[in-house]
Amino acid sequence: MRTEREVRWACANFVFVVLVGLTLNSSNLCDGGQTSRFARKNGLSADMPIDSDVFRVPPGYNAPQQVHITQGDFAGKGVIVSWTTADEPGSNTVIYWAENSTKHLHAEGIVLSYKYFNYTSFYIHHCTITNLEFDTKYYYEVGVGNTTRQFCFITPPKSGPDIPYTFGLIGDLGQTYDSNRTLTHYQLNPTEGKTLLFVGDLSYADDYPFHENTRWDTWGRFIERSAAYQPWIWTAGNHEIDFASNLGEDIPFKPYTNRFHVPFTASGSTAPFWYSIKRASAYIIVMASYSAFGKYTPQYEWLINELPKVNRRETPWLIVLMHCPMYSSYVHHYMEGETMRVIYEPYFVKYKVDVVFAGHVHAYERSERVSNIAYNITNGLCTPISDQSAPVYITIGDGGNQEGLVFEMTEPQPAYSAYREASFGHGIFDIKNRTHAYFGWHRNQDGYAVEADSVWILNRYYNTVEGSSAA
Ligand SMILES: [Fe+2]
Repeated sequence: MRTEREVRWACANFVFVVLVGLTLNSSNLCDGGQTSRFARKNGLSADMPIDSDVFRVPPGYNAPQQVHITQGDFAGKGVIVSWTTADEPGSNTVIYWAENSTKHLHAEGIVLSYKYFNYTSFYIHHCTITNLEFDTKYYYEVGVGNTTRQFCFITPPKSGPDIPYTFGLIGDLGQTYDSNRTLTHYQLNPTEGKTLLFVGDLSYADDYPFHENTRWDTWGRFIERSAAYQPWIWTAGNHEIDFASNLGEDIPFKPYTNRFHVPFTASGSTAPFWYSIKRASAYIIVMASYSAFGKYTPQYEWLINELPKVNRRETPWLIVLMHCPMYSSYVHHYMEGETMRVIYEPYFVKYKVDVVFAGHVHAYERSERVSNIAYNITNGLCTPISDQSAPVYITIGDGGNQEGLVFEMTEPQPAYSAYREASFGHGIFDIKNRTHAYFGWHRNQDGYAVEADSVWILNRYYNTVEGSSAA
């Protein structure tokens, strides 16, 4: 017969064994990577007031405002300059000159305006400059004849496999105090982004009654401090749809397509929502989550013709941008990208896309290289598997809009999820050469040089095996 002390000792041993067992079991379940519980303020962030300094209207009669640029051709020798004027249409001319030249050149653009419910836009100008020299600093001037304003940009180097180039990544930006911190962090990051890849959801004007389009104007003035000096490459998100039949507004994407022009025809696209560009050593394909993308649609036909055209010996880095992520383990928007995954993931694997950037989910997440293309409903193979031909999926919808962060995550963290955290921030994709690129995620609470998550990304065309998911 056991003494009372022996019984207590046996019970303690039993509890210890059970606890160890539970711990081991849960670590088996939660082998997905890292879920960061970094603490930050939880409340929603308000939009900055309309009289904030970041929305200041530039002084002078008919002064150009909301100046922004994007790539204007397929190869990187063109720039589309866009701006608005408030008092009268004014000039559509852009005067530009290379830094080392006194020869001033002229390009003529167009002017348009649109109405949305009870709002009439300013005069919106778009001017495409072509045949620029590669890797050259240009100054440009708009507002000819009235108040003129001067800006500058640098064209990319001619495409080649080992051209280093640095892209910034921002999504779901909006115009809150957090949005302002995100943009400031991006601009002050010592690893300077030379071109910004924007993964959709711009102004969030549609969150206001009647889709208050003056909030498109404030947003245009807010981003000018970056977007007038380096190209922002546009992806359309759901907040660009602006479909409101109750307001008599039944043309989708009306404010977006009037305000943001992209060089879609240069890549053979038939609509401004999906297109591609080359820039330095990268080939960037922009996809449209909110345009028809099923089999036989124009977007589908374009993409399946586009992917085989990519010459990885010239542009080794194949990057896809879309708004709605195909892999996300957050509860919010869970599986919204599944239809697109089912249709396009086999192509991404076949053509070895290096990385897919998306937004929509207001948080950050990075995946392992996985694919789920074996899944066909009846075979039960519905768990993504490690696949060295698959892209890394990065959700960067954490720009800082007024809808706030999403904190709720599916548990346990799925195996494909390498790192996830609900904080505002931006990304930097820093291409070093044909084989190596470094991705860093910068959260707004940290110093400008701090990376809260980072990874070396090895090129899929020149490398077949990636050692580790962590840098
Ligand atoms: Fe979205």
